[in-house]
Amino acid sequence: MSSRRLSLALRRARLPSARPAARPIVSIPSPTSSTTSSISARPFTASSTVAADSTRQIKYTSDAYPNIKRNPNFAQVTAEDVRFFQELLGAPSAVVDGVTSDNAADDIEPFNSDWMRKYRGHTRLVLKPKDKDEISAVLRYCNEKKLAVVPQGGNTGLVGGSVPVFDEIVINTSRMNQIRSFDEASGVLVADAGVILEVADQYLAEREHLFPLDLGAKGSCHLGGNVATNAGGLRLLRYGSLHGSVLGVEAVLADGTVVDALSTLRKNNTGYDLKQLFIGAEGTLGIITGVAVQCPPRPKAVNVAYFGLESYDQVRAAFREAKGQLSEILSAFELMDGRSQRLVHESTGNKYPLEGEYPFYCLVETSGSNGEHDLAKLEAFLEHILGEGIVADGVLAQDETQFQAIWRWREGITEALSHLGGTYKYDVSIPLTDLYQLVDDTRDRLTSLGLVGEDDSYPVRAVVGYGHMGDSNLHLNVAVRQYSKEVEKAIEPWVYEWIAQRNGSISAEHGLGVAKKEFIGYSQNETNLKLMKQLKALYDPNGIMNPYKYI
Ligand code: FAD
Ligand code: MLT
Ligand code: ZN
Repeated sequence: MSSRRLSLALRRARLPSARPAARPIVSIPSPTSSTTSSISARPFTASSTVAADSTRQIKYTSDAYPNIKRNPNFAQVTAEDVRFFQELLGAPSAVVDGVTSDNAADDIEPFNSDWMRKYRGHTRLVLKPKDKDEISAVLRYCNEKKLAVVPQGGNTGLVGGSVPVFDEIVINTSRMNQIRSFDEASGVLVADAGVILEVADQYLAEREHLFPLDLGAKGSCHLGGNVATNAGGLRLLRYGSLHGSVLGVEAVLADGTVVDALSTLRKNNTGYDLKQLFIGAEGTLGIITGVAVQCPPRPKAVNVAYFGLESYDQVRAAFREAKGQLSEILSAFELMDGRSQRLVHESTGNKYPLEGEYPFYCLVETSGSNGEHDLAKLEAFLEHILGEGIVADGVLAQDETQFQAIWRWREGITEALSHLGGTYKYDVSIPLTDLYQLVDDTRDRLTSLGLVGEDDSYPVRAVVGYGHMGDSNLHLNVAVRQYSKEVEKAIEPWVYEWIAQRNGSISAEHGLGVAKKEFIGYSQNETNLKLMKQLKALYDPNGIMNPYKYI
């Protein structure tokens, strides 16, 4: 089949050298003065990451999960504690006090509830230290007084890890927002934990570099939160995991000890690699205060294509071909099922990129340094997969606007789902052969239980699948009219058993938080769990760091 049989919209294009930030960055003046590059944080409500139905009441986690009991060893915050923190941190904006003030409820609520509007805590105190020394003094005090804490970055986490369950003090990193240094020769960025991902990437774009992580919540999430969750995102396929690109971490332990493992070296085999422990620990071992990250040069030529496919087998075939033919320039291979794209269509009103509707779609991105060479490769790939009938139709972005528009069909799914009421999210790794089968099996199961339907008498609206095909990472999402125990029990632990039977992981990139704490045994054996618990006890003997979560 020749390229003449492609959709009319499929034409070649070359994009501008640096892909601008996907969304405009609104900077507000930093509350701290700085002699280094001043990078300002913005409030949680970045346009891209506002969970939609903000009028709906969120149930307290302690009511939704009554099996979780408050640890009686923890103290309750007193007025004396608040005075200590106010004196320590100084700036009025550094303490949001609902302990001695009755008027702080509205100010505290955004720190108590999560992006999915599924988890809600009872904290009455939020602290915003400005540097590692303040974090150290706060934690030393909390540890002595047995006050439990929750580290919080941009609060975009999807497993309930970033908000309290009971009255834990929130320690938010939004005032720690300075880029400390950037070395253009090595590409190493050193930054405070509270720098917003998109702000860091914009800073790097101006220096022809790129942050090696990109995700839909980039306008709100913090680098510290990214490292604490070991976030994966849209280009892990190309740039690898943060376990590889994070060169150093500065963190504070529960007793106030500052761990300076902020190496900027690519190679450093002197002893245990302590920084790795904090990557993906979700704030249970300490608070990350600074990170050193290896950042690659920004690719000069970036292309994105979007395909419709008739079956999951064809998606797998397209991925195989993309790896083989695009090899070193392949930077993303994302899977979206037809239902997920319909949800984006319904929530945005945007016209579909292709003329027909298909059961599967994929998005392929290339990033390279030579536009001509990349286009030649991409064109050959497109002709091949169309000619072989692997994909049914496709479109290639012709300019920056189309590039952004195509990515929105993928990045917009999470937000589109958030408009529907609630979402049970399962973020899992499964060998590619079986990956999409989980979505079909879940839909069949919930349908046979009479839970799925079009009208309001059914709790489930849709069962959709999408994800990072290139990383064998599926996002199974069950969209409900409202969170319901009946649906939750129909899915869990069945879904975890399904994954364990195929040697998958129940947590690919979002983490464990509250959502998966009790299911960790489906992906970790007894010996590993024992070692993890020993580490936790060593680093945090009083268990004050992000309790009721993770392990
Ligand atoms: P938070 O949500 O504030 O915290 C997350 C966890 O890290 C909590 O357990 C918290 O206690 C801990 N933590 C936060 N800061 C620190 C710190 N400084 N030190 C120690 N612990 C800390 N995730 C992906 O992996 N890939 C995606 O593609 C992706 N896309 C998303 C798209 C949307 C629209 C949304 C809303 C979320 C998405 N996420 C994704 C999830 C989320 O954005 C990531 O987990 C992100 O890394 C969280 O960063 P944060 O600053 O918001 O952290
Ligand atoms: C994504 O890949 O879009 C994110 O991980 C968020 C989600 O799973 O919805
Ligand atoms: Zn993801």
